[in-house]
Amino acid sequence: MEDEVRQACIRYVADLFASEDEILADLRREMLEKDFPRIHVTAEEGRLLQVLLRSIGASKVVELGTLGGYSAIWMGRALPADGRLVTVEREGSRAELARAYVARAGLSDRVVIVVGEAKQVLEQLGDAGPYDAVFIDADKENYPSYLSWCGENVRRGGLVIADNAFRSGRVLDSASDDPGVRGIREFNRRLAGDSRYTSIVVPTRDGLAIAVVN
Ligand code: DHB
Ligand code: MG
Repeated sequence: MEDEVRQACIRYVADLFASEDEILADLRREMLEKDFPRIHVTAEEGRLLQVLLRSIGASKVVELGTLGGYSAIWMGRALPADGRLVTVEREGSRAELARAYVARAGLSDRVVIVVGEAKQVLEQLGDAGPYDAVFIDADKENYPSYLSWCGENVRRGGLVIADNAFRSGRVLDSASDDPGVRGIREFNRRLAGDSRYTSIVVPTRDGLAIAVVN
């Protein structure tokens, strides 16, 4: 299929299945105005996250890398009323915007934003596990260690989901010494080769890795 046709099909899916409400659209606009890096998930990826969480009846979820809370709002809306998403962000200004929008979305009871380094916050989160799902979208060099944490803290039948499995195609460059690229390559290799998971990468914007814990 031509790239152009493929793009049009993706837009068609987004319009049909993943239309944003005013809150999500405003948040996206505000992240642009505030010069946040343009790295949030797309609306159709947000919808895919919802489908995945709903498919396993997820109620306890962890997200690494909140940014402005765009994916957290999509995921929070897929949780039951007593569900809980803990989302970790290292930059306070980003967490602040996320908090404002989570509140506006009426999700403050369900979505908890923790400011800190994911590696350190995870040490504390282990006690409240096991979790139904983890969405990894933070610093790429630490993906392998986040996967190790998931191995200990995600329940059987639960999901490990990770953004940026392609790293803009740089994952194909086996000679790359970029720590982020190396982290993603190691993550993908481990996910694919570990018999504890049934896993795949879906070719979204930058590749979404999805693994079920066997
Ligand atoms: C980057 C991070 C992301 O999570 C993403 O989706 C795209 C790019 C980055 O840090 O470059
Ligand atoms: Mg990402």
